[in-house]
Amino acid sequence: MAATAKMATRALRATPMASTIRPAARRVAVPRQAFQRQARRGYASEAPKPSGGSNTALIGGLAAVAFAGLGYYTLGGNAESLKQGSAAQGQKGSATFSPSKEDYQKVYDFIAKKLVDEDDYDDGSYGPVLLRLGWHASGTYDKETGTGGSNGATMRFPPEGDHGANAGLVAARDFLEPVKQAFPWISYSDLWTLAASCAIQEMGGPDIHWRPGRQDRDVSYCTPDGRLPDGSKGNDHLRAIFHRMGFNDQDIVTLSGAHALGRCHTDRSGFEGPWTFSPITLTNDYYKLLLSEKWSHRKWAGPVQFQDNGSKTLMMLPTDMALVKDKAFRPVVERYAKDQDEFFTDFSRVITTLFELGVPFTTGEDARMVLKRTE
Ligand code: HEM
Repeated sequence: MAATAKMATRALRATPMASTIRPAARRVAVPRQAFQRQARRGYASEAPKPSGGSNTALIGGLAAVAFAGLGYYTLGGNAESLKQGSAAQGQKGSATFSPSKEDYQKVYDFIAKKLVDEDDYDDGSYGPVLLRLGWHASGTYDKETGTGGSNGATMRFPPEGDHGANAGLVAARDFLEPVKQAFPWISYSDLWTLAASCAIQEMGGPDIHWRPGRQDRDVSYCTPDGRLPDGSKGNDHLRAIFHRMGFNDQDIVTLSGAHALGRCHTDRSGFEGPWTFSPITLTNDYYKLLLSEKWSHRKWAGPVQFQDNGSKTLMMLPTDMALVKDKAFRPVVERYAKDQDEFFTDFSRVITTLFELGVPFTTGEDARMVLKRTE
């Protein structure tokens, strides 16, 4: 990519715009090049691929289904990967290979380097879409039936990969495919949550306490459509979706703070634009902007979404606005707007729970690890 764009991206990373809510200051701080890049890049207007994932993933998945019939798949992702060959990078070449923290750190470092190297995407980073992949893999969990969740990585298969809510996530899955090739011993489901944790840390977020142990599953474990939230709805819908996963009202507000990152794409969700002026740096700006800006219905042909009256470049979904309208949600928004540390502490805890939903760990919580972020 162009050297200037790389420099812009680096400058953006080095300058977390945590307090950019005053219009004048904000206009100076806006990573304009990053936003303009979005407009001139072909990617955002490309139709998503019809399949649920890359061909490699799909073929792997179909093979997995075949193996499942032989009982092979019950070995789980990591054990299964071990059988696939022992010459992989990071693998010790032994049938009893059991990855250590050091091995997971190598995977982390590989992803972190890819994030820096491949910055010709959206606002300069795949970080937001990697986080969204980890969230959508996990957010299908249903506490009543114990189905769904991050165990399985079933979004590799068309039924789930093609669900409307997952549109565009093929970009994240394809980004991670070379990582899986380099470290075949890691399950896709561990890889996706590890990558999301890496993305959070590399985008300036809190330490994430991540634990391995997820097993890839076959297509029969795909969850039905409709388990992920619909941005066009309101507070009742948010409660129905997140309480089903086992979260409470406060957790809904905590997790929504991830919308400090990334953007909406018309060819994916139909909505358009970023929530904050620093979409590749995790801050509490989402909460600050929700409260400090005046938000009006955007006049356009697309679905109902809100636009800030100040710059008219930011957006909020109806579900985002529900957080300031609802009496129980709003005080939490106010607390996080005042105190980024409190948001970070809660976000780290709740996202750890999210990424562990539905996983039959054989280890305890003491197996959680914080992988070292890039200096
Ligand atoms: C509260 C209910 C939620 C709704 C209705 C919602 C809806 C959406 C929508 C419509 C998009 C735009 C997708 C696109 O067009 O590319 C999006 C993007 C995103 N969401 Fe959410 N989301 C919710 C919760 C969450 C949670 C819990 C997280 C993570 C913890 C999250 C992380 C993200 C990220 C990082 C993006 C940006 C992706 C990108 O830039 O490609 N969201 N969300």
